[in-house]
Amino acid sequence: MNDEGAPRAGASTERPRFARTLQERILWGASALLLVVCAVLIARRFAGPAPAPLPESAKAAALATIPLAVPQPPASDWLLAHFVAPLPAQGEPPADWTPIEGRLDAAACGACHVRQLEDWQSSWHAQGMGPGVVGQLLDGPEIADAATCQRCHAPLAEQLVAPDDDGTAAALRGDGLSCAGCHVRDHTRSGPPKADGTAPMEGAPHDGFVAQEAFGDARFCQSCHDFEAGQRTLEGKLLQETWAEWARTDYAQDGVSCQDCHMPEGRHLWKGVHDPDMVRSAFTATATWARAGEKLTASLEVTNTGAGHRFPTYTTPQITLRMEQLDAAGAPIAGTSREGAIARRVKPDLTEELFDTRLLPGERHVLAYDAPLSPLATAVRAVVECWPDEGYSRFYTIKLRDPDWAPNGRALIRTALERANASRFVAWEQTDPLP
Ligand code: HEC
Ligand code: HEC
Ligand code: HEC
Ligand code: HEC
Ligand code: HEC
Repeated sequence: MNDEGAPRAGASTERPRFARTLQERILWGASALLLVVCAVLIARRFAGPAPAPLPESAKAAALATIPLAVPQPPASDWLLAHFVAPLPAQGEPPADWTPIEGRLDAAACGACHVRQLEDWQSSWHAQGMGPGVVGQLLDGPEIADAATCQRCHAPLAEQLVAPDDDGTAAALRGDGLSCAGCHVRDHTRSGPPKADGTAPMEGAPHDGFVAQEAFGDARFCQSCHDFEAGQRTLEGKLLQETWAEWARTDYAQDGVSCQDCHMPEGRHLWKGVHDPDMVRSAFTATATWARAGEKLTASLEVTNTGAGHRFPTYTTPQITLRMEQLDAAGAPIAGTSREGAIARRVKPDLTEELFDTRLLPGERHVLAYDAPLSPLATAVRAVVECWPDEGYSRFYTIKLRDPDWAPNGRALIRTALERANASRFVAWEQTDPLP
């Protein structure tokens, strides 16, 4: 499967064969749900210049060429109805409920479900209507249709703000993807079967709940983390296909679901690419240096040993590999640095994939180093940096150059840009004496 074409100088991605597989593929995208790609809508309005072309590089294969690890049953009817878009309004709560039982805001649920509220507040689901999203909605349908975006970011009918809203919908929208977005339909609560196997309690608040195995199913997350077949693809790959990536891995074969890694012990934290410890758990890095006369050669290898899909899975994060020589003060010496990237880089108008060096589990990316030894060098360093929102930084920067873009949302977009710029962190680093 090493067919990704001419690798970029100094970088290559090795792909093991996915040998234990059944020649089974499922057409899972034929559902009636019309999920619309956020990025495609953003791109429709894109008017900025194209970025400088990057060197030809490794191209991660289209998933259609990689068989599923095990056959995947289609999503259940219950799940398809649960995440139908748009969601119907909940209607009036039962007349015998206390006011708090009928409320849909996360704070109300948290009055009783304290731990879930605390966890959720720290998660990106709670940030679903952050400045980057709202900033793009304030300027009306010509920038983005609210219902289209909120289908994943704040899916309740009650979260859609009408022109005559008295503030109720706007407040609920601020919750982003809240408890009710995943757990409440028609005022009925559903959740995973209880861990001790007992039936839902009689006479519990909100008339108890309906137990659904689907809460433990990776398909539950697929509803929002994969676009549907037929939507925008580049090089045969959808712009979001996390579930489809996972379905090709040994994790799927071994029954390790999204929830096992992202909701350990049912915790509602959903840590991902923005969390340094989570990112550190995704990969193993090794740096080796050698000296031949006045030349230094080296390699930095990064292997996906912990992410249950491509590392990273989306087009927006960038993992940067860097090797450099250091002077006596520990500062990098100009001209000695070499870099490589693990990312799926697409043009901001989404018309072209420039490179895709992301790694399925077991795959490895190698940055090769070959440079003259600087007379100032006293040590060498290898670094793996994670920039979760690199793609958003580029997108907002280009868009803000247009003075007519998003007149009402600009202030929020600037906030989003600052946050995207500040999202970088060092995930791994190793300094060695000169070899
Ligand atoms: C099919 C589900 C889906 C739809 C529809 C969708 N998004 Fe997203 N969006 C996601 C997911 C999942 C993420 C997190 C992963 C990522 O960063 O790509 C995300 C992340 C984002 C982010 C970065 C995080 C943040 O809060 O700043 C922005 C901005 C965004 N979306 C804007 C939009 C806009 C605008 C629309 C409508 C045009 C939209 N999205 C429609 C699923 C969706
Ligand atoms: C993105 C969807 C999603 C959101 C948002 C969400 N949950 Fe959950 N919730 C789940 C899933 C999935 C499970 C099952 C987790 C498992 O068993 O591994 C679950 C489990 C639960 C349980 C069962 C006990 C437990 O913790 O495992 C309760 C209670 C619960 N959620 C309440 C809440 C409350 C309250 C909120 C808001 C503060 C919330 N949920 C937000 C998806 C969600
Ligand atoms: C007045 C307290 C109270 C409020 C408010 C409340 N709940 Fe509950 N909820 C409970 C209790 C008690 C149970 C346990 C029922 C049982 O054990 O059978 C429960 C059960 C659940 C379950 C099932 C847990 C499981 O084991 O699968 C979910 C999901 C849930 N609630 C979600 C919510 C959501 C979402 C909200 C807000 C929209 C909410 N609850 C508001 C008290 C409350
Ligand atoms: C209703 C749609 C929806 C469902 C269902 C959903 N998500 Fe999300 N998820 C989103 C959106 C939208 C974002 C981005 C929020 C933002 O920052 O704007 C997101 C963000 C995340 C992130 C954080 C990514 C980061 O950038 O760090 C993780 C991890 C995640 N989801 C995992 C899951 C898992 C696991 C499940 C299944 C249990 C799940 N999600 C179910 C819509 C959803
Ligand atoms: C074996 C553990 C594991 C499994 C299974 C897994 N993930 Fe992840 N996931 C990770 C790790 C580790 C990261 C952080 C590194 C990264 O960003 O890829 C991550 C990152 C993410 C992110 C952040 C965005 C990004 O660009 O990386 C999202 C969203 C996400 N996972 C969703 C899912 C969904 C949905 C599933 C199921 C279809 C799933 N994950 C299955 C371990 C796992």
